[in-house]
Amino acid sequence: MAQPAEQLPRPMLPTPFRVLETWEEIPGCMSLRVEPAGTGDAAGACAFAPGQFYMIYVFGQGEVPISISGDPARTGELTFTVMAVGTVTDALCAVQPGGIIGLRGPFGSVWPVDEIEGRDVIVMGGGLGLAPLRPAVYHLLNHRDRYGDLTLLYGARQPRTILYTDQLAGWSANDSIDINVTVDNAGRDWTGKVGVVTDFLNWRRLDPDRTSALICGPEIMMRFSAYALLDRGVAAENIHISMERNMKCGVRMCGRCQYGPFFVCDDGPVFSFDRVQHLFRIREV
Ligand SMILES: Cc1cc2nc3c(=O)[nH]c(=O)nc-3n(C[C@H](O)[C@H](O)[C@H](O)COP(=O)(O)OP(=O)(O)OC[C@H]3O[C@@H](n4cnc5c(N)ncnc54)[C@H](O)[C@@H]3O)c2cc1C
Ligand code: FES
Repeated sequence: MAQPAEQLPRPMLPTPFRVLETWEEIPGCMSLRVEPAGTGDAAGACAFAPGQFYMIYVFGQGEVPISISGDPARTGELTFTVMAVGTVTDALCAVQPGGIIGLRGPFGSVWPVDEIEGRDVIVMGGGLGLAPLRPAVYHLLNHRDRYGDLTLLYGARQPRTILYTDQLAGWSANDSIDINVTVDNAGRDWTGKVGVVTDFLNWRRLDPDRTSALICGPEIMMRFSAYALLDRGVAAENIHISMERNMKCGVRMCGRCQYGPFFVCDDGPVFSFDRVQHLFRIREV
């Protein structure tokens, strides 16, 4: 029998948020800007660290983990980027401005943006993996003087599936961060690079002792990227990846997200590669 709401532990209680704005990023993928629907401390309710996620509840449909994709310096609201792949994400992508959704969070570990101050940072994204990385990129750029060289290496399937194209162009236009985009395949009208994202590492000069990497994308992309960086001498503890697993509670109670000895909802989603490297060799973990 379902527990009455007043008996649920607080982390299990969704807070109502109002959808302010939605827009299509790429085919099948929407971004939603939301704010707390109630009165109270909106800034406090929306505080998060880059890399964290919320459990988002679509009334009558269910709940899914979604990373925050917006700027952590923007207070009082949150942005999510959602690919419609199934029941709940389809419904979430269809919510209109003014609609109400439930949020629990923020949950999970963070991109180590404080620990890597003073270092060169390579951000590597594959496909939708750029969404959970974007708050880290915002943070690095908001505090540009605290970091060495900043590089974003991003790979998408096709030109039409490149996320945040206008923003990437804007970032490219100033010298704060070196932006490099590649696609797996493209028509003749694409004048950019074709190939996998790890190709960028082949010719790039990097100082392994002062380089940290943040990686998010399909597991195969993260594996190849992490090993390419290891080959270049970057230590496993300076390579950070963000894992995805099916989730139910989001707060270390149900065990659904177990990954070897870890609960991805709480020990992750962000892990340094030295902690999970042994699991990457085992299929179906
Ligand atoms: C920490 C975390 C952060 C995430 N951040 C984002 C995000 O920012 N944007 C986004 O669009 N999605 C994100 N996801 C993935 C998202 O949670 C799943 O796509 C969603 O749970 C699918 O639910 P559904 O009911 O729409 O689809 P379902 O009907 O449950 O499943 C549809 C298909 O998606 C697969 N699937 C289900 N859950 C996952 C999952 N967790 N990872 C990979 N495949 C899955 C199923 O195997 C099935 O093939 C994140 C997942 C995690 C764990
Ligand atoms: S989702 Fe329940 S323990 Fe992680």
